[in-house]
Amino acid sequence: MTTPLPAADGDVLRVERLSVRFRMRGGRSVEAVTDATFRLRPGACLALVGESGCGKSVLASALLGLLPGNAETAGSALLPDGLDLLAAGERTLARTVRGRRVGLVPQSPAAHLTPVRTVRSQLEETVRELAAPEGGKAELRAAAEAAAARAAFPADHLDRYPHELSGGLAQRAATALALVGDAPLLLADEPTTGLDRDLVHRTVDELRAHTRDAGRALLMITHDLAAARRVADTVAVMYAGRIVETAPAGAFFGAPGPRHPYARGLLDALPERAFTPIPGVPPELGNLPPGCAFAARCALADATCRAARPPFTEGVACHRA
Ligand SMILES: Nc1ncnc2c1ncn2[C@@H]1O[C@H](COP(=O)(O)OP(=O)(O)OP(=O)(O)O)[C@@H](O)[C@H]1O
Ligand SMILES: [Mg+2]
Repeated sequence: MTTPLPAADGDVLRVERLSVRFRMRGGRSVEAVTDATFRLRPGACLALVGESGCGKSVLASALLGLLPGNAETAGSALLPDGLDLLAAGERTLARTVRGRRVGLVPQSPAAHLTPVRTVRSQLEETVRELAAPEGGKAELRAAAEAAAARAAFPADHLDRYPHELSGGLAQRAATALALVGDAPLLLADEPTTGLDRDLVHRTVDELRAHTRDAGRALLMITHDLAAARRVADTVAVMYAGRIVETAPAGAFFGAPGPRHPYARGLLDALPERAFTPIPGVPPELGNLPPGCAFAARCALADATCRAARPPFTEGVACHRA
């Protein structure tokens, strides 16, 4: 028997101080995610945003036990019945969690599709495995086609192999596969890469529709702030492995706007805003400065920012917010 854990207090997911460290050659290690804390209430859609390399996918992989062998995790990630995803064994994750309780739209769909099988056959197999449909071949076929339609995957491409798909089509195939198990918690890691704007809308609306049933939630990782604005009710901004701001989407995208200078910079980089990219690049995770990791790029930074890491208080980690 495992020790009973505190239940998630009505949350679909409750993540407390999740950290991920990679052990590297020569005894070095790199912390890719540090103390991530957030919760997903029933019906919630949390958008996790931030520049490339800030730890978003590592966080999602940690939740599903998909990290490579050189990774170590700390903290907890509780499902409603108290199952801690970070403590659960591979057997539990494989048999009862992945696809069933937590669905994943992976960031690199091509890597997650089986190269030697058509999209239809992969969908049908996943339906057979996860949805246990009543009836025979015709029902299986119909369920697979319905999943494809939900992800806007064209029916006349179902008999193609992954290598015959464009990036956008592979993305939609992966989304269809993730929707099959109807998992209450969906993690969608850049689900709109390679899609035109109208398909972006269709895809995120479909993912969002998933949360309409009771007890469901969506964590959407995205570079696409316009897509985030369309579906999210809460935004979490990550920088160099840490969540530096969480805010209700209305306040974040509208008034008063983001509070962290990095988050303001992300919004200013949107084409319909000033279109001003944030100067500089994020620091190396293995070589973070002692103070605020954003200080070197921040117009507001002062000596305090460079010397002391800002604590996360009242939704933001910034000395100057
Ligand atoms: N197996 C690994 N070993 C060591 N470091 C790793 C490993 N996997 C990821 N990292 C590091 O963790 C950091 C975060 O990577 P992650 O893939 O989560 O970024 P991301 O925010 O998803 O970026 P993107 O927006 O480009 O997808 C990166 O700096 C990466 O180099
Ligand atoms: Mg990623």
